[in-house]
Amino acid sequence: MLDLTPDPASLDPIETASIEELRALQLERLRWTLRHAHDHVPHYRQAFAEARVHPDDITSLADLARVPFTTKQDLRDAYPFGMFAVPTEQVARIHASSGTTGQPTVVGYTADDVDMWADVVARSLRAAGVRPGMRVHVAYGYGLFTGGLGVHYGAERLGCTVIPVSGGMTERQVQLITDFEPDVILVTPSYMLSILDEMRVQGVDPRSTSLKVGVFGAEPWTDAMRGEIEEALDMHAVDIYGLSEVIGPGVSQECVDTKDGLHIWEDHFYPEVIDPETGEVLPDGEEGELVFTSLTKQALPIIRYRTRDLTRLLPGTARTMRRMEKVTGRSDDMMILRGVNVFPTQIEELLLAVDGLAPHFECVLTRPDRLDVLTVRVERREGWTGDPAEAARSLAAAVKHRVGVTVAVDVQAPESLDRSVGKARRVIDQR
Ligand code: DLL
Repeated sequence: MLDLTPDPASLDPIETASIEELRALQLERLRWTLRHAHDHVPHYRQAFAEARVHPDDITSLADLARVPFTTKQDLRDAYPFGMFAVPTEQVARIHASSGTTGQPTVVGYTADDVDMWADVVARSLRAAGVRPGMRVHVAYGYGLFTGGLGVHYGAERLGCTVIPVSGGMTERQVQLITDFEPDVILVTPSYMLSILDEMRVQGVDPRSTSLKVGVFGAEPWTDAMRGEIEEALDMHAVDIYGLSEVIGPGVSQECVDTKDGLHIWEDHFYPEVIDPETGEVLPDGEEGELVFTSLTKQALPIIRYRTRDLTRLLPGTARTMRRMEKVTGRSDDMMILRGVNVFPTQIEELLLAVDGLAPHFECVLTRPDRLDVLTVRVERREGWTGDPAEAARSLAAAVKHRVGVTVAVDVQAPESLDRSVGKARRVIDQR
C-alpha cells in the first residue's frame, strides 16, 4: 500500500503544538463555552444552578468535573430547538439523528460552526492520507444524517474533487467507482462490505480499483475488519469518529501512518472518560464512557455530553492530542448473557478468524424459556466448500473461550442476511 503520511508542514500548527499550549487554549475556550451556554440556554442555566456551580468558578480543566452532565434525554426534552444558544436566524444548518426510539435529536450550526466543521473534517481526511486534488467518493448518506454533508464540506475544504453519491443503489456505487476512478471512499464499514460483494457480482476485481484509502466510521468496527477490508481491496482502511450532538464526523481520526487509535481534535472537543455507573472521571488509560464538551461551538454548545460510547484515552503519538481507542461498542448495544457483557465487536473479531465465514453477521436475542439465548447469524463465504457445522462449532468455541458465554451459531448461505446501506443493525432483540 502507498505511503500516504502527510507532509508535517501541511498540518495545522495546533496539531503539533506543545501540551501546555493546547491546555491553555482549551481552558480559555472552555470558560467561554460555559459562559455562553449559561447565558443563552435555559437548560444549562438551571442545571448549573442546581449543581451550585457558576461558569466563573471553573478556573482549571479539572474543575470541569463539577459541572453536570448532558444526556440525549436533555436534548429530547428541549425538542426541537430548545438547546440552541443563538437566535434562530443565525442558525445556518440543522441536522438530526435518526432516533430509533422516540424523537430525533436536533442539532444546529451557525455559519462559523459549519466552517469549523469543514476545518476539522479536512484535518481528519489529511490525517487519513487524503490529499488536495484527490477524487473522493462519498457514500455516507446525505440529508439530516451528518455523515454525507459533514464529510462533503471537509473534502471540499481540503481541495478534493467530491463525488456526492450518498448511500444506496449499490450497483451504481460500483459503476461509479469503476468509471470515475476515485482515490478515496468515505462510507460505513458495513456498507463497504455490501459494495465489495457487488464488485464480485459484477466481476470487478476489488484489488484492481483506483481506491487507495477508505475512511470508515459511524458505527463500531474492529481491527480484524480492517484486515479483511485492506486485504480485499488493497487499500488503507482508517477510522473516523463523531456524533451529531458534538458536531458530526470529524471529532477524532485515525492517522494512516500509525493506525493506532483516533486522535481527538482537542482544540475543539474536550474529552473525558467516566465510570458510567458513578459518573466519576477516570484517569487516562482506563476504559469507560466517553464524554465531550465542545470548546468553540456557537449554535449548540454541548457540555459534558454522555456519548454512551465505551473507550479509553491514550497519549498522543502522530499528533500531540490524545487518542481514543477504537470504540468497543455503545452501552446501548451491549448484550448481557447470564451476567456477562457481550458486544457485537467481540463477535466480529472472532468470526473473522474462522475459516469459511463471511464478515456479515447479526446477533439475535431470544428468550425461549426464561433464559436469554444469543444466536449469531453469519454467512459462509461464497465459493467455500468446507463444512458449515464445523465453522459454527469453531465460532461457538472461540466465543465460549474468549468471551465466556455460550452462543448458538447459525451459518447461512451467502447473501442471506440483510445488507446495510448505512449503519448496520447488529443486535436484533426478539425477547
Ligand atoms: O455517525 C457521525 C459520523 C458520520 C461519524 C460519518 C463518522 C462518519 P450519529 O448518527 O449522531 O453521528 O451517531 C453517533 O455513532 O455515538 C457512536 O456510537 C457511533 N460512531 C460514530 N463513529 C464511530 C466510529 C455519526 N468510528 C454514534 N466507531 C456515536 C464506532 C462510531 N462508533
